[in-house]
Parts: sequence; C-alpha cells; structure tokens
Amino acid sequence: MKVGIDALSVYTPRYYLELAELAVVRGVPPEKYLTGIGQERMAVPAPGEDIVTMAANACLPLLEGQDLNGIDMLLLATESGIDQSKAAAIYVHRLLGLAPHCQAFEFKQACYGSTAALQMALLQVARHPECQVLVVATDIARYGLGTAGEPTQGAGAVAMRIRAEPRLLAIEPDFACCTEDAMDFWRPNYRDEALVDGKLSMRVYVHILEECWRRHQALTGLGYADFARFCYHQPFTRMAEKAHERLAGLACGHAVERPLWWPQIADSLLYGRLMGNSYTGSLYVALASLLETGAEALDGERLGLFSYGSGCTGAFFAGTVQPGYRAALRTAAHRALFAERQALPIAAYETMYRFRLPADGSAFLVSEGCDTGAFRLAGIDGHQRQYERVRNRRPVRATEPAAEAGAEATERRYGNSLARPQ
Ligand code: HMG
Repeated sequence: MKVGIDALSVYTPRYYLELAELAVVRGVPPEKYLTGIGQERMAVPAPGEDIVTMAANACLPLLEGQDLNGIDMLLLATESGIDQSKAAAIYVHRLLGLAPHCQAFEFKQACYGSTAALQMALLQVARHPECQVLVVATDIARYGLGTAGEPTQGAGAVAMRIRAEPRLLAIEPDFACCTEDAMDFWRPNYRDEALVDGKLSMRVYVHILEECWRRHQALTGLGYADFARFCYHQPFTRMAEKAHERLAGLACGHAVERPLWWPQIADSLLYGRLMGNSYTGSLYVALASLLETGAEALDGERLGLFSYGSGCTGAFFAGTVQPGYRAALRTAAHRALFAERQALPIAAYETMYRFRLPADGSAFLVSEGCDTGAFRLAGIDGHQRQYERVRNRRPVRATEPAAEAGAEATERRYGNSLARPQ
C-alpha cells in the first residue's frame, strides 16, 4: 500500500515587503538580498493573524466538499507557539468544524516539527489505511528590525492531507535522520525573536544534510541518479542552492557545474522566494512550488527531500510523484493567493512588526480592517484568545498605515492597547 501526500494547500499572509526596498532603507545593496540571500519578498502577518488563523486558512480548502468525519487526526507543527499547554491544533480543530473523534495536538522541533508530524501521520495511515490525517505547519519567522536575519523573515502555513493511495506523493518508509545538540538558532520562552548564530547555522545545516544523505544511501541503496528533483528546507533560497551544490558534489565525488544541479531545484525555490522563511512549512512550500510551477511533468519521478530543524535534527527521505498528480494540485488558487497580495511600504511593515498583543492577559480587541483570509484573531478576553470566521473579507489599502504615522494612529488602526516598541 502506498501512503503519502494526497493534497497540499499553502497560505501566506496578504501583505508583503519588497526586499529591494528594505535593502535601500537598511543601507545594503539590493543585490545582497535578491542574489546573496536569494529572497525577493517577505510575507508580513497582519494584526489579527497568528499561527492558528494561518493554519486554519491553509487547511480550509482541503476540507471543502469533504466529509469532515473522515479526518481522524489534526497534527500541527509550529515553533511560534501561543500557549505552553494547550495545542494550537485544538483552536484549528474548532474553527474547521472537525469531528470530536479527530485527535488534535502540536509538534515542536524548530523547522523539523512538520516532518515529525508527517512521520506520525504516515505511520497512523499505514496501521489504519482508512484513516486520513491533516498535517499543518504554521509559523512566523522573526529576527528583529535591522538585524542580519531580517531579510530572512517570513510567514505562512501549509496543510497536507495524508492518506493511503495518495494522489500527489507516495512517501518511502526510510527517513534517514541525524540529531546533534547545536546552539545555532533558538528562542527562549521570554523572547519574541529568535536568537541565531547565522554562519554557524548554515554550517550545521550542511553538515546534517551530509550525514542524512550518507545514512539514506546506506539504508536504501539509492544514489544521486535515482532522484529527478530535490526539495530542501528553505530558510532563504540561497541556502537551498548551497545545500544542493554540496550534495551534488558529495554524491558525485567531485564539484558539479551549476547548470547540472540547478534545474534539479529551480522550481522548488519560487514560492519561498516570495514568502520568506515559514519555518516548519518551508520544505513543504518548496514541494508545492516544485509540483505546481515546473513545466516538465514529474509523473512517476522520485524526489529527494531534506528537512532541517535548528538545534538540531534533520532527515533525508524520498517520495514518488504519482501519475496524474497535476489534477490534484491547487495551482490556480496559489497563483491567485500570491497575485492578490498587497505590498507594504516600509513604515507600515515596521508598524505591523511592532504590533503585539498584551503579554499580561488584559482584555484586548484587534481592530478589523486588515485582510486575514477566512479567519481572524479578534482579541483576548479573560486570558483566552478569541478567534472568528471572517464573513466578508474587507481588504484595506496597504498604504494606509504609513500615511497615518504615530502611536495614536497605530492604536486606532490595530487595537485598544499598544505593545512596547522593540
Ligand atoms: P549576513 O551577515 O547578511 O551574511 O547574514 P553575508 O554578509 O555573508 O551575506 C550573505 C550573502 O550575500 C553572502 O553570500 C554574500 O557574499 C552575499 P555567500 O558568500 O554566503 O554565498 N552578498 C552579496 N551578493 C550579491 N551582491 C552583493 C552582496 N553582498 C553580500 N552586493 C545570514 C546572512 C543568512 C547568516 C542571516 O540572514 C541570518 O542569520 N539568517 C537567519 C539564520 C538562517 O536562516 N540560517 C539558515 C540555516 S539554519 C535553518 O535553516 C533553520 C531555521 O529555519 C530555523 C529553524 O530550524 O527553526 C533558520
């Protein structure tokens, strides 16, 4: 029996920042961000968006016209958690109207959490072939204004339906993993932004890739030539390029010219280049990008996937694209999602970035007005997050926050109390 990904849905916030504009303001040559980092735009979550609303927005299209009783598990992966105890999956379960028999819980290991969730989903379906599991990866990547990590921020969610005889990708059982204790990237509970040793994190990423690749070869006997395409965790797309160049060299025993390895990853980079890092979602956003934007049909082809989560754990695994997969993709919907986004001026981006819910549990209402897709965080009441379905989406002009500068304007716009500036 084949088990794997039957459907994929990507959600990214409705607002974005052009990195060429950010570069100018930060006094950096735009080419550094566009080529050196390999990022063009960065998704910016609006007030009223968090990991719950993004996850629900990603899952919703996979449930339209489906029997909700058919979903037996909802597994949510995130490293932008909103609660130390209650799983964000429970809120998503309610917003989606899933059945009480559907288990819902949360996974964490930096960006690797989604792959851990995927493995649990695959095992569940392998044991109970009638089961369908929703895996959703949802995150907001924050490093801080003006930091080296700033151009590698981003946000988004990706939902996958896992089932027997999947229409998109049948996943092979061998996950070649490697875990080491590294302080390359972490976020203590008292911080909103990650702490990162950027250069170390890149070295550890490549080292773990090498270890996982060797183990995968030993486990499966598969070699480089057995893979048609590769998808990597993409903290920024240049990282995936560096990783693949290294893997090609390692696998072939000599440096491989760019024209030979580049086509094996090029299509997987397009969505990530426009969203930025979505942490747990990033590898699966790369998969959606590969399947949806590639001109060449991949029916029956084997893909190699590398998942990396700082701290750190990684895995290399393989999947085979299923015949007729294109009919099961959401290509048009994703194109529309990217096309309908609105560019933010720098001032509006910084205002949105500084927006915080109160950290002491005091009652708070998030003003309406920003486009948050089909769900929004309406506020906090009695230490409880209040979520609601958005009946009539009301997109606003993204230039408005910039036009109205200052704390009072921000308060009018985003809520009845302001968080502390960074
Ligand atoms: P930086 O200080 O901007 O680095 O930080 P840089 O000065 O070395 O520049 C970056 C690249 O731009 C270099 O390319 C420069 O040469 C190039 P490279 O030499 O590496 O090929 N460059 C230019 N290119 C063209 N024209 C120019 C120009 N100037 C310079 N004019 C860094 C970069 C990625 C370290 C920083 O953004 C950062 O710390 N980001 C966050 C950490 C990160 O993403 N790490 C990736 C691996 S860890 C991971 O993937 C896990 C993660 O997703 C978290 C999780 O698991 O939960 C992060």
